Amino acid sequence: MVDGKFICRLQYPHIWGRYELCQECFGGKDRDMQTVETCRGKNVTILAIESSCDETAVAVVRNGREVLSNIISSQIDLHTLYGGVVPEIASRKHIERIDQVIAEALKTADRKLKDMDAVAVTYGPGLVGALLGGVSAAKAISFASGLPLIGVHHIEGHISANYIENKELEPPFICLVASGGHSHLVNVLGYGDYRIIGRTRDDAAGEAFDKVARAIGLGYPGGPKIDRLSREGDPDAIPFPRAKIAENEYDFSFSGLKSAVLNYLNSCQMKGEPVCQADVAASFQKAVIDVLVEHSLHAVRKFGYDKFAIAGGVASNSSLRAAFEEACGRRNIRFYRPSPVLCTDNAAMIGAAGYYEYAKGVRSGYDLNAVPNLRL
Ligand code: KG4
Ligand code: ZN
Repeated sequence: MVDGKFICRLQYPHIWGRYELCQECFGGKDRDMQTVETCRGKNVTILAIESSCDETAVAVVRNGREVLSNIISSQIDLHTLYGGVVPEIASRKHIERIDQVIAEALKTADRKLKDMDAVAVTYGPGLVGALLGGVSAAKAISFASGLPLIGVHHIEGHISANYIENKELEPPFICLVASGGHSHLVNVLGYGDYRIIGRTRDDAAGEAFDKVARAIGLGYPGGPKIDRLSREGDPDAIPFPRAKIAENEYDFSFSGLKSAVLNYLNSCQMKGEPVCQADVAASFQKAVIDVLVEHSLHAVRKFGYDKFAIAGGVASNSSLRAAFEEACGRRNIRFYRPSPVLCTDNAAMIGAAGYYEYAKGVRSGYDLNAVPNLRL
């Protein structure tokens, strides 16, 4: 039973075989058929909230894979003035905007709060003040409406974004999560069941994009700007290094690459040579992508999977998507990637992850707190 209701294979296909099920649910054929009938018409609709960084986002998601609304209120314009996210400003803006964004998400989905089955919210990792805006709103809604509260891990959300547009995708698979704060290679063994097999030793991939963008004068947000400028540059113009980590073949390191770009810029300046921004952007981007592709596909092969997914803000990079598409195609690996809007921070992905937590029976208490360094 889940939350006092029968569960069935149709409604929660992933639970089948992975969890002990009660006799009542799967005891005998007759009982089984009856359970299927009971559950067939039951939709689970989740109000999902995300506020871990600089997007105030709310979505309404049905059965983990159908997005009824996905509203994102971005603060990028505000933070651009300062060249990066200012945590204090982010927290204040979440508090100012969250009510409106919730109202808009429900209106767009043509649903009322009473139509929801649960409220899911990102509670970490992220900026503590920013997270608290969403967590407090979710707790207040849960307390006032009686809806179950589900705390969701932000990275689990990014991975789950892949389920939204790929109805057939089921674990196990390898997922590369590349965002502003993380670069993880994750073995997705089941819904909510993850093993991190590789991680960055220093900067995250997105962080490297942002720092290099600043160094060549592109400003914030760096990733999309480097993506765009790289199309005009030569990716083989400058031989930037590709780091290998001796102790773990799946780990990453991007700080050496970042330093190499800075050294290159300094040496050009000292010699009075002109810098071609587009060539630097394209060569840096290629160095990042080469390493991400090589490590990821090595992991897919070693674990014997035929499915691979990408997630996180950097996964919206057009050259990275093309490189993985080509590399996976050559090796007969099915390649999954969310649309760019579902790669960067959004609440639809939290609704997807929240659904699988809900189905497992996970419920958070009113003591749910923001955990800035929450581990997967
Ligand atoms: O997942 P995300 O929206 O937020 C975090 O959880 O961190 O990722 C943001 C990161 C930023 O570092 C941003 O520069 C990078 O993703 N990013 C990109 C692109 N779009 C966003 N990096 C490379 N190419 C892009 N098109
Ligand atoms: Zn994120």
